Amino acid sequence: MSPTHDRRIRPRRLRSTPAMRRLVTEVRLHPGDLVLPLFVKEGLTEPVAIASMPGVLQHTRASLREAVREAADAGLAGVMLFGVPLVRDAVGSGATDPDGILNVAIADAVEAAGGRLVVMADLCLDEFTDHGHCGVLTPGPGGEPVVDNDATLERYVDMALAQARAGAHLLGLSGMMDDQTAAVRDALDDAGFHDVAVLAYAAKYASVFYGPFRDAVESTLQGDRKSYQMDPANRREAGREVALDVAQGADVVMVKPALPYLDVLADVAATSPVPVAAYQVSGEYAMIEAAAANGWIDRRRAIEESVLAIRRAGADLVLTYWAAELAGWLTAPAAPAAPAALVAP
Ligand code: PBG
Repeated sequence: MSPTHDRRIRPRRLRSTPAMRRLVTEVRLHPGDLVLPLFVKEGLTEPVAIASMPGVLQHTRASLREAVREAADAGLAGVMLFGVPLVRDAVGSGATDPDGILNVAIADAVEAAGGRLVVMADLCLDEFTDHGHCGVLTPGPGGEPVVDNDATLERYVDMALAQARAGAHLLGLSGMMDDQTAAVRDALDDAGFHDVAVLAYAAKYASVFYGPFRDAVESTLQGDRKSYQMDPANRREAGREVALDVAQGADVVMVKPALPYLDVLADVAATSPVPVAAYQVSGEYAMIEAAAANGWIDRRRAIEESVLAIRRAGADLVLTYWAAELAGWLTAPAAPAAPAALVAP
């Protein structure tokens, strides 16, 4: 008798009751594995709703502090801050201004967190440049503007120092410039910021799923990011990007987006010597919210299953706009046991 035909082997046995399923569950969600991205806009007096991300706000400095306190109360691992400036220019001056919105918000968040969670900051120029690119532009061979890698690194270094001085615990390098991790790590160390950690968006794809985020930060992007973010067709290349970031001193590497890239995430998780994060991005959020709003999907179960799938594929940390709400569900008192009639015979 072949073992595959052995009727003594019955996988359903381990699915027969809620208690039995709990005994053998492989992956669990925990607030300590979740990071909440937050937007803060310069000059706001009231928080503003983001139309394409229902439930997500552009915060004022005061409401951001409150959101950070709530994130800490919920037991989240951290917050990731994005700034929306009022004025933009070609080199993204607001990003390196100590009084720029992101830098003042970092200091606000660090104070509000009181050491209870990790304050992370997005390190990229796209929110601060008038052309919306993640770096500074230079004329290309045919006179068309291209993003200048090495000139951009100089801006990232200054931005990293401004964020470190503001008290950020971890810098999220999301620009996809070559050598950005080494440039920022060296600058931090030379300035004595040895304990400021670097999360490298190692495998960041040129994805349509960032669409709602661009509303959230009022992006002015002209063109696309395909000359620096990765081609969605490429899986092997993610390994190369991760290896480079790890060699350059990345403390954490990230895969982004998450759900459409679980194969990449699983590859990275299997080989990375450093912790792996995944970013469930704005478009992933918007799809589930829109389907739920139409009554086409069970919102809570879709959120739980999507984040669970990202953890199962190997992410140690998940950045998700649902982090606080999900943490609330996870820590709520357990639901009463299912009535006997619902338990499988
Ligand atoms: C760059 C950045 C982006 C996102 C996070 N960091 C936008 C982009 O690369 O175009 C997208 C996050 C999301 O869609 O939720 N600052």
